[in-house]
Amino acid sequence: MTYERENIQKITGYTPGEQPDSLTVIKLNTNENPYPPSEAVMRTLRNMKAEVLRRYPPPNAQEFCGVAAQMHGVKPENIIATNGGDELLRLAMTTFVDPLQSIGYAEPSYSLYPVLAEINNSPVVRIPLNENWSLPQDFAEQLNKEDVKLAFIVNPHAPSGYLTDVATLARMAETFKGVLLIDEAYVDFVDPDLHYNSMQLLERYDNVLILRSLSKGYSLAGLRYGYGIGNKSIIEPMLTKTKDSYNVDAISQHLALAALNDRETAAKTWRAVRTERQRLINHLKEIGFVCTDSQANFLLATVPDNLRGGAKFIYESLKRNDIFVRYFDAGRLRGSLRISIGKPDENDVLLKALRKLV
Ligand SMILES: Cc1ncc(COP(=O)(O)O)c(C=O)c1O
Repeated sequence: MTYERENIQKITGYTPGEQPDSLTVIKLNTNENPYPPSEAVMRTLRNMKAEVLRRYPPPNAQEFCGVAAQMHGVKPENIIATNGGDELLRLAMTTFVDPLQSIGYAEPSYSLYPVLAEINNSPVVRIPLNENWSLPQDFAEQLNKEDVKLAFIVNPHAPSGYLTDVATLARMAETFKGVLLIDEAYVDFVDPDLHYNSMQLLERYDNVLILRSLSKGYSLAGLRYGYGIGNKSIIEPMLTKTKDSYNVDAISQHLALAALNDRETAAKTWRAVRTERQRLINHLKEIGFVCTDSQANFLLATVPDNLRGGAKFIYESLKRNDIFVRYFDAGRLRGSLRISIGKPDENDVLLKALRKLV
């Protein structure tokens, strides 16, 4: 006997990346920041008062939203705090898409999107990315043709790290008739010289919803904290109708606030990751891998053609040596590995193991 809805019976659910118990594993498979969170965050945690736990938390994380709003040059009413960026994705689905209405994204992309669609019983429109991982010119037109209500653009793109520029995003927002969710889970690692800033889109387009996460940029994947930024007409229904009353807990709110208030410490880790990203790319190319020019805290490395066993073989061999990277056994990603940028010594161990294998 099963009590599941019919569409839930049919789906398999999301498969998270492996989380090994051992702390000695070199873990380059789920894009965590290799550096610890700021000392200000840890101090806030140590000094947490029992009273904070006795009471319900502020329902809309008002203090956090105030600080985030100031940081982005928007109003607090333009921000919703969520239990990880993932909760924002789920809220967007619940709020803007009826069952049987479509969602869309460019493929390949974050594998949670189709799972959320399946849960909602929503068809998925998958539009292949160009060879260089850029969005097809007519992406928005294709979405409109299929009457898509909610579309996702992950920027920088996962798993390639490709960055779509703001002018292209503006064109998409202008043309697309539904809600355009720009998933910036990895945006903190973008080279500042590129002057990427999508906030300007919010002044011109009321259909844009930007996702931010503290998981990667602020080394807080374990905390589960993210937020959405958008026009009031996008934020308010999620804030007042579809989210749980107390969706972010009291401890998270305090720690997230401490993290934003000490952005400079996080920014040091972003600089370190960028430096290592370039070093890793240079060495991987030397070994014979084809690497994308990533703007995220990971890179996509395509395994040399002449290597027996290919990407799967390398993934498994590394794993036997306690080095975890991500292998996707699907579509155009089959010949590649997604490697999170580790600390210099971790990357050295990886490079040494790869040199031995190749
Ligand atoms: C593309 C993308 N978006 C959103 C998220 C959600 O991150 P979190 O829920 O940890 O904030 C992730 C996490 O891996 C991701 O890869």
